[in-house]
Formats: sequence, C-alpha cells, structure tokens
Amino acid sequence: MLKKKEKYIVAVVGATGAVGNEMVSILEERNFPVGQLRLFASERSKGSTINFHGKPVSVEVLKDDVFEGIDIALFSAGGQRSLDFAPAAAKAGSVVIDNSSAWRMDPSVPLVVPEVNSHDLMWHKGIIANPNCSTIQMVLPLKPIHDAAKIKRIVVTTFQSVSGTGMKAMNELHEQCTAFLNFREITPKVYPHQIAFNCLPHIDSFLDNGYTKEEMKMVNETRKIMGDQSIKVTATTVRVPVFKCHSESVNIETEKKLTANEVRAILSSKAGIVVYDAPQKNIYPLPIYVAGKDETYVGRIREDESVENGINMWIVADNLRKGAALNAVQIAEKLIE
Ligand code: A2P
Repeated sequence: MLKKKEKYIVAVVGATGAVGNEMVSILEERNFPVGQLRLFASERSKGSTINFHGKPVSVEVLKDDVFEGIDIALFSAGGQRSLDFAPAAAKAGSVVIDNSSAWRMDPSVPLVVPEVNSHDLMWHKGIIANPNCSTIQMVLPLKPIHDAAKIKRIVVTTFQSVSGTGMKAMNELHEQCTAFLNFREITPKVYPHQIAFNCLPHIDSFLDNGYTKEEMKMVNETRKIMGDQSIKVTATTVRVPVFKCHSESVNIETEKKLTANEVRAILSSKAGIVVYDAPQKNIYPLPIYVAGKDETYVGRIREDESVENGINMWIVADNLRKGAALNAVQIAEKLIE
C-alpha cells in the first residue's frame, strides 16, 4: 500500500514510447506531486533525456534492481516487460500501474477506470492494471447507462488510430502517406498490410474463435470493470489511418427502456464525458478535434428502432490520454487522495 507523502518518487517505464511520453506530459500538466521522476527504457535509449517541468531527466536502462525507493511505477513498455519487471517493482514496494494487457485478467489485479470502479483500488496487491484503450472509452459512458437501465448486450465496432500501436506505427502511417502521394512503392512493416488510405479489420493476433485478442479484451475487460459477468459483448476492432483518437460505433440493448434524451441527460451529468450531439448542425465527435482532450466525447445518440430497448451512439476519445496515460495518472491520483 502507498504511504501518504507530500511528494512521491514516480517512475515511467517505457518513457520514450508514445504512451510513456504522454505519461510524462500528463504528470507535469496535472501537477502530480512528483518529488523525483525516474525514466526507464531499453538500452537503445541510454543517454537520451526527456524534459519534465523544464528540466532534462535522463532515461535509464530498465533492470530488475532499479525499483528500490520508487513509490509509483507507471509501466508502458509492452506486455513482456510488464510480466518480467512488474513483480520485482511490486516486491520492492512500488505500486505498479500497468498499461499493458499482461495483468488485466489476473483475478488478483484490479482493472480500473477511476470514474467507473475506483472502489476496486482498495484490494490491489502492488499491481493495478490500466484497461485496454478501446474498453476505457466505452465503459465510461456505458456504466451510468447500465446503472440506470441495465445493459443486456453491447455490439461495438471500433475505428482505432495507429498511435495505439506505438511510435513506429505513427511513423509508418506518415511515411506511407508521403510515399502514396508521391507514387512510390509501399512496403508495410508494422502492420501486415498498407495502413495509409486503408482499413484493417485486424488488431492484435487472431484467436481460434475467429476473433482478435483486441476484440476479446473488449469483451472480458468490460465485464470485469463493470462488475457484471452477465453483460453480453461482441466486438469488431478495425485499425484506421488516423494518428490519434479511437472512435467507436456502440449499440446497446437495455432491460429498461431509455429514450435518446434520457441517455443524453444521464451522460451530461457525468465527469469525464462530453455529450457532443447536434447532428443537424454537423456536430458530432471527430478524432481530429478530440485529440489532446481529456474527456470522452459521445454523439449520434439515437434509439435503435430494430429492437425494443436499444440505443446507438458514437464515442471518441484520445487513446493516448484517456485510453492510456491519463487514465493511469488518474489511478495514481486516486491512490494518493
Ligand atoms: P526504447 O525507445 O528504448 O525502445 P512504443 O509503444 O511507442 O513503441 O514504446 C515502447 C516503449 O517501451 C519505449 O519506451 C521502449 O524503449 C520501451 N521498451 C521496449 N523494449 C524495452 C526493453 N526491452 N526494456 C525496456 N524498455 C523497453
């Protein structure tokens, strides 16, 4: 458990990556009480620095024995690093907030979106999991609807940006767009196909049931965070040529009838959610405008006329912020509250 202090020694593991970088900026933006910031990455980043509150902080090489004295360790260096190093960090007394999928479904590890289930932070044993980016932005608006009308089934299709894959994928989209517009040949490296001017119905690896791991993360993590195993969830996850922000088309069926206006009213009163929904004025959430924002934007709220109690909506959030780094820092804020 974290001891109350005025300032904390905070580590960011994977600090040179897309999410790690965002973690450092968000700790600074939100004035998290950092006494000392320690940054870790691979041997490749040895000698590099990242600015924090105007001062350069050196990036250190991640090793088993670096965690002594660290209060909070934010991990975003890939699942293998989390499996290899999070237990050592927890053993050394750090509270790990892990952005990878490595620990999410472990029954001894809470999986937390602070606005939804901060009560689960009470039972952590040194490792807390940050949910999958697409799941965070979906459960945030769905939980208050579930509380009001009990969700029976969720059908979701995602349109996920390349930053979810990391820095290399952002560079690849940039390079492929330039190559395409200059009639140069494109050789995909990060994804199995060209991502520029394309959509890939394939995120993470395929499982025997025909779904991808990303799709099953949405199914299993949603139930764990919402604390209700009875909710039926089916997902199709698609990578699109967008740099930042995931968008989602979400269809829900509820036990109790809710009108579109009632859904708008429920969501408008909730922290972290912006209802942005006036389609007659072309107002609906768009990735280019939601990028850099902390809130999850919801629009196109309408009744599904094909079933008795159904609602459709369009949800957009910045996957590097609420979908990853911001949620992790908000967990840290709850821990020290
Ligand atoms: P590095 O930049 O030194 O490779 P992204 O998800 O944007 O690709 O970022 C991945 C992050 O995880 C980077 O900070 C990367 O560091 C870090 N990382 C990858 N492999 C290791 C490793 N073996 N040990 C420590 N950090 C690693």
